[in-house]
Amino acid sequence: MTAKLISGIEIAKEIREELTAEVAELKEKHSIVPGLVTILVGEDPASQSYVAAKNKTAHALGIHSEQVTLDPETSEEDLVKLVGKYNNDPKVNGILVQLPLPKHINEANILLAIDPNKDVDGFHPVNVGKMVLGEQCFLPCTPHGILEMLTRSGVETSGAEVVIIGRSNIVGKPIANLMLQKRDAGNATVTLCHTRTKDMAAHCRRADIIIAAVGVPKMVTADMVKKGAAIIDVGVNRIGKASNGKAILAGDVDFDAVKEIASCITPVPGGVGPMTITMLMKNTVQAAKMAAGLV
Ligand code: GUN
Repeated sequence: MTAKLISGIEIAKEIREELTAEVAELKEKHSIVPGLVTILVGEDPASQSYVAAKNKTAHALGIHSEQVTLDPETSEEDLVKLVGKYNNDPKVNGILVQLPLPKHINEANILLAIDPNKDVDGFHPVNVGKMVLGEQCFLPCTPHGILEMLTRSGVETSGAEVVIIGRSNIVGKPIANLMLQKRDAGNATVTLCHTRTKDMAAHCRRADIIIAAVGVPKMVTADMVKKGAAIIDVGVNRIGKASNGKAILAGDVDFDAVKEIASCITPVPGGVGPMTITMLMKNTVQAAKMAAGLV
């Protein structure tokens, strides 16, 4: 079997078209332009490219976007102050501080400093708590994007055995929580595997859906996959450099071998990545509507 490709590029395009229309309507009917600020501390090349992609997408959709790049030595106090400034700026509806931060800055303190109503990443403890309770909130972008991909590709999650590999705060923990809830792309039986899991392959072989978010290139091999399973690959691993200087990327899944067994699979690049950025835009538009009292 050769699996159907779940294209994040195609699904993201669909959602971006919906958002472009929504942004145009907000401007025309309410004179509102949603605003996003991205804050990057330091010069990590991967983070630089993610932040650049977020700003480029915002502009393309008609969202006002500001990119702030700070010296790697910036103090925690100065970063908290800057976040406070944007909390009080009515032109800014969404604040994104790119993670990871340099070691001398306490990530939790920065996330806590962001106004929960501008927390378009969905990382503030208030939004995390609401998410776990199934209340209305900003959902974290990568998990939210995965839910949309599953729904829009017609992957049945109700009653499905879902195995998630990786327990990060950004992907593993939230997607596990969301998929067990009574919601679209939910009602699943969820197993969350991590570095201390005894027999990862045995768990994976039972799975109707595998979500890999570990950061280990090609860790999920064909012998770990049940025939007909759906595969979501969140990994973006730089495994080398092409002659043109561009990074060569690989996912957490051995794509070429696994596609022969799975029913559907996301590629890397062009899978989950474009969805993460798109859901950030959706949250920013939502934040603008909330600020204007439209929702
Ligand atoms: N670093 C990796 N993914 C993300 C994300 O979704 N948001 C932020 N702020 N930083 C990240």
